[in-house]
Amino acid sequence: MKTWGFLTAVMGIAAVSLVVVGAQVQLQPYSGSADYQAYCSACHGSEARGDGSIAKSLKKRPADLTQMTKRNSGVFPDEKVFKTIDGRGGSAHDADMPSWGEVFAKSSESAGPEKSAARIDALVKYLQTLQVK
Ligand code: HEC
Repeated sequence: MKTWGFLTAVMGIAAVSLVVVGAQVQLQPYSGSADYQAYCSACHGSEARGDGSIAKSLKKRPADLTQMTKRNSGVFPDEKVFKTIDGRGGSAHDADMPSWGEVFAKSSESAGPEKSAARIDALVKYLQTLQVK
């Protein structure tokens, strides 16, 4: 009988972990690094230094995205970065930089405001990992 109790407990824990893992997959379904390479690197460069392949043909040089913490007195400006990427609501961005909030909200993988926000969040978190000291 003891064995059964033990097995039930193990199965219970396994079931709970599956639910937890499932919830995490649900919460973070977007890959910031993959989206970055797909949508941003042509302008901002594969290492986000502002030197992408089409950077030279733009009116304005795409920003070096590794310097945002440095330029903001050592604090990563996550809200501002989110708003700039989202591009709606009058954030300071050039016409050359698309409104990703609109693009993502129209894409079937991230339709609607919540999913597009989650997708931008993943990008913001990825950019945070690229900041130079
Ligand atoms: C068509 C070229 C282009 C693409 C594609 C592009 N950007 Fe930009 N981005 C720019 C330009 C140009 C600027 C500078 C705008 C300005 O200074 O007014 C900029 C500015 C930014 C800024 C503001 C940086 C700062 O220091 O304030 C962020 C953040 C940013 N881009 C993130 C992204 C992300 C994330 C993607 C991909 C989802 C992306 N960009 C795709 C051209 C682009």
